[in-house]
Amino acid sequence: HKKINSICCIGAGYVGGPTCAVIAAKNPHVKVTIVDLNAARIAAWNSDKLPIYEPGLDEVVKTARGRNLFFSTDVEGGILDADLIFVSVNTPTKIKGIGAGFAADLGYVESATRKIAEVAKSDKIVVEKSTVPCRTAQSMRYILEANAKPDIKFDILSNPEFLAEGTAISDLFYPDRVLIGSLDTESGRSAAASLADVYAGWVARDQIITMNLWSSELSKLAANAILAQRISSINALSAICEATGADIDEVSYACGLDSRIGPKFLKASVGFGGSCFQKDILNLVYLSESLHLPEVATYWKQVVEMNEYQKRRFTNRVISCLFNTLTGKKIAVFGFAFKKDTGDTRESPAITLVNYFREEKAYISIYDPQVDEAQIWMDLTEPGVVDETEAVKRQVSIAADPYKAAAGADAIVICTEWNEFRDTALDYQQIYKEMKKPAFIFDGRLILDAKKLGRIGFKVETIGRPRTTFVQTTDFE
Ligand code: NAD
Ligand code: UDX
Repeated sequence: HKKINSICCIGAGYVGGPTCAVIAAKNPHVKVTIVDLNAARIAAWNSDKLPIYEPGLDEVVKTARGRNLFFSTDVEGGILDADLIFVSVNTPTKIKGIGAGFAADLGYVESATRKIAEVAKSDKIVVEKSTVPCRTAQSMRYILEANAKPDIKFDILSNPEFLAEGTAISDLFYPDRVLIGSLDTESGRSAAASLADVYAGWVARDQIITMNLWSSELSKLAANAILAQRISSINALSAICEATGADIDEVSYACGLDSRIGPKFLKASVGFGGSCFQKDILNLVYLSESLHLPEVATYWKQVVEMNEYQKRRFTNRVISCLFNTLTGKKIAVFGFAFKKDTGDTRESPAITLVNYFREEKAYISIYDPQVDEAQIWMDLTEPGVVDETEAVKRQVSIAADPYKAAAGADAIVICTEWNEFRDTALDYQQIYKEMKKPAFIFDGRLILDAKKLGRIGFKVETIGRPRTTFVQTTDFE
């Protein structure tokens, strides 16, 4: 099989950037060029302030950038020069047209594919890195073959990415597995072997798995659906804990000790977020419906519905404990990213919660150590003709630190599990002094020692633990 000397990655986002930076760092003799249409993003990748916050990423980029790693807006040049091309563009949920709200928008994948067909002057291995519906590789093949110059051959591989944000670099350095799907033809197997050699630069051979193209595509959607399903399962149980006196952390621990279940991904929360889980499950739901499998569609849809319920349920608890009204009250929101160690806010539960608090006429003060202010304003306004930022700013402010966010507040709501919010890191005694009384903390991430904070004077309400504050009026829950 062919040796890969030059790689191009189309899409310099959360996946293309870190993945191809690691490939370059681990394969110093392979030239890796990451291209994107977004000039500002490419400029940031070429600067000292990378466009995404990810622990360990700066070091990896510094090792390889300018040596065998390049970031460029020259998409055509990148394609021309490459033996192998990763397509790592966004595949968001469609917002209009057939399948709106469920199906993946494959417009970016298609336009990148058409560009490859138009530009390529030599044989290429084209690799789906984006998460796509099962059988997308077939569409890519049609487009490539219908538009290619004569005598140019394309092999299409599926190589889904399993990194999680916040731990992307260690996930890439030490993957559980690398998955490569190909057609079961000589040329398909040979292309898969070429890509396997790139990963073998640092991953053990027995962790590089090759399989049928469609299995590989579906495995990515399946893995995300199963992971999200574990969270929705534990979150559904958290509601039972709150009503009975059981403690969700203890239940998770007890279940996780069963080696068939395992301890990971059983942490109750205010809800899962991130750009992948919801999108990929909805994609699976759409696929099931298209295949006339309505029972299968309903089954997976429930995972997303449980997640919406969890956010609503947690908000209702906040309102109910705060004497059934948030009008004019100040709520300090700790954390806006969808999880710790990332600045990414896509589908963050904090966005939903802040919107609910706004509907209840609360004042909200947000603190997050990594999310840019402009991003927060963008997330809290609907993109459209009318700029709503001024209206949002009448109710929402952004604080420079957690102490300022909590000063004068009636309640703190922990939305993201940043280490710096732990009771071992923040001076909660000081925070308590500056808050309105009774001072509430709603821990949506189970990171606080409720007894310790209770001794300071806080009313602590934790997800998955029974309510401690009782208000005898209309019950929202
Ligand atoms: P992203 O939005 O951060 O990055 C995609 C980039 O592609 C953007 O910078 C965009 O400008 C660029 N792009 C779009 N069309 C282009 C074109 N025709 N030519 C050149 N550039 C183009 O998205 P992401 O988070 O990196 O996700 C990419 C894919 O990987 C998605 O399919 C996603 O589902 C999948 N994925 C994401 C994660 C994650 O943690 N974010 C993990 C695994 C898989
Ligand atoms: C996910 C998958 O884990 C990854 O394999 C895939 O490539 C992309 O999608 P990501 O969304 O970046 O990664 O982060 P992840 O760690 O999976 O967390 C997703 C959401 O679930 C976060 O909001 C997180 O806080 C939440 N979560 C996670 C829980 O609520 N409980 C848990 O036990 C684990």
